[in-house]
Amino acid sequence: MFFCFALIILASPAAFTDARCDFLAVFNFGASSSDTGGFKAAFPPQRPPYGMTYFGKPVGRASDGRLVIDFIAQGLGLPFLSPYLQSIGSNFTHGANFASSSATILLPNTSLFVIGTSPFYLTVQVNQMKEFRTRVLEISPQGNYLPPKDMTFNKSLYIFDIGQNDFTGMLATVGLEGVKKYFPQMISQLTEKIKMIYNELGGRTFIVFNLGPVGCFPAFLYYLQPHNTSDLDMYGCAISYNNLVLEYNKMLKDRITQTRNQLSDATLVYVDTHAVKLDLFQHPKDHGLVYGTRACCGYGDGEYNYSKEVSCGDTKVIDGKNVTAAACKDPENYVSWDGVHTTDAANKLIALGVLNGSFSDPIFPFSKFCDLKPVG
Ligand SMILES: *[C@@H]1O[C@H](CO)[C@@H](O)[C@H](O)[C@H]1NC(C)=O
Ligand SMILES: *[C@@H]1O[C@H](CO)[C@@H](O)[C@H](O)[C@H]1NC(C)=O
Ligand SMILES: *[C@@H]1O[C@H](CO)[C@@H](O)[C@H](O)[C@H]1NC(C)=O
Ligand SMILES: *[C@@H]1O[C@H](CO)[C@@H](O)[C@H](O)[C@H]1NC(C)=O
Ligand SMILES: *[C@@H]1O[C@H](CO)[C@@H](O)[C@H](O)[C@H]1NC(C)=O
Ligand SMILES: *[C@@H]1O[C@H](CO)[C@@H](O)[C@H](O)[C@H]1NC(C)=O
Ligand SMILES: *[C@@H]1O[C@H](CO)[C@@H](O)[C@H](O)[C@H]1NC(C)=O
Repeated sequence: MFFCFALIILASPAAFTDARCDFLAVFNFGASSSDTGGFKAAFPPQRPPYGMTYFGKPVGRASDGRLVIDFIAQGLGLPFLSPYLQSIGSNFTHGANFASSSATILLPNTSLFVIGTSPFYLTVQVNQMKEFRTRVLEISPQGNYLPPKDMTFNKSLYIFDIGQNDFTGMLATVGLEGVKKYFPQMISQLTEKIKMIYNELGGRTFIVFNLGPVGCFPAFLYYLQPHNTSDLDMYGCAISYNNLVLEYNKMLKDRITQTRNQLSDATLVYVDTHAVKLDLFQHPKDHGLVYGTRACCGYGDGEYNYSKEVSCGDTKVIDGKNVTAAACKDPENYVSWDGVHTTDAANKLIALGVLNGSFSDPIFPFSKFCDLKPVG
């Protein structure tokens, strides 16, 4: 599928003085793909070259620069979302970010200190959201770092970008068929949280991202080696993984539709970010990129430039030599940053796809609700 984003950005000059946006705040729930520093606030920091392209240093984002949620905030004319867990320098006037790297939807089965799963799984993130609202409504005088008490929680966007770690984490332990058994549980948990925010917190606008094409990520392709080439499609993506993601996404979409019918005055949007990402991996050149299934920051130089021995930013002694998984010189040419996460360049394209609205069900052009600012 080919899509062209070049045209969408556009707010008239007047919009800068007179910006209109129906959403006063954004509250985000997710994992590393949308974590703007929550995990970093609680656990050991990242190493360079994370953050190299935009921030010039590691800032807790799993990319060389900005994340999709950063570009969305920018498009809406809002500052980057402060992580709820960040106690120094945060400003929650326009929302908060509850995302935590490696977070899952389901209760993690193990500890961060064993295999790296975040304890801040979806239920904890939503509890933090409740506490956030309770405190905002309690505190007086309010100060200029909190959102206004009135009208905020029902005039906010609630964004969910979570589930990939459940999927990939369980693949390792229970395999493709095993993962499937957890789909209904994952999806129920997610829709229950949406209903809870609707019923208890007054949320009315919900945006749910589906799962990306895991079978195109360099890290997972690496783990599949040596190849069963009959499982690779013409773009070099793993068919079995991607088919399973499609099954999950279909089930998610159906449940979102059902849930929408139960929440009368709510807007509940399913966004097919999968389609946008898949197109980037399959046709990077159509979007001004060069490399699809090859990581910018990694080790090995092979087909995927990824190795489990040394991941992005790490240094290890291999065969008596110090080796470092460093970044390529041109991250702007890559879809994949470190084998698992996407680059600043790719994230911008994904955000433009989300803001455009035509990848959403129902169609949800953000320009209908806000004067969009240029993104980039
Ligand atoms: C979304 O993108 C499509 C394809 O490029 C374009 O035709 C459409 O006008 C865009 N919609 C908005 C709201 O920008
Ligand atoms: C949790 O761990 C148990 C035993 O280690 C395993 O049988 C089960 O499948 C795991 N569940 C998930 C969701 O990973
Ligand atoms: C927080 O951000 C808002 C809007 O961007 C700004 O008006 C306000 O002054 C900021 N508060 C602090 C304490 O910096
Ligand atoms: C949103 O909440 C405010 C404050 O609680 C209330 O006055 C207003 O009626 C609510 N609006 C909608 C559309 O629910
Ligand atoms: C290779 O993959 C195909 C398609 O997923 C599968 O049917 C076949 O059993 C696999 N072969 C091996 C040796 O794993
Ligand atoms: C690897 O680098 C570290 C730190 O720079 C150094 O202390 C160590 O001696 C080096 N090891 C080898 C085998 O070169
Ligand atoms: C692979 O990663 C290395 C950093 O370890 C980088 O210098 C190189 O440009 C990358 N190679 C390719 C082909 O992307």
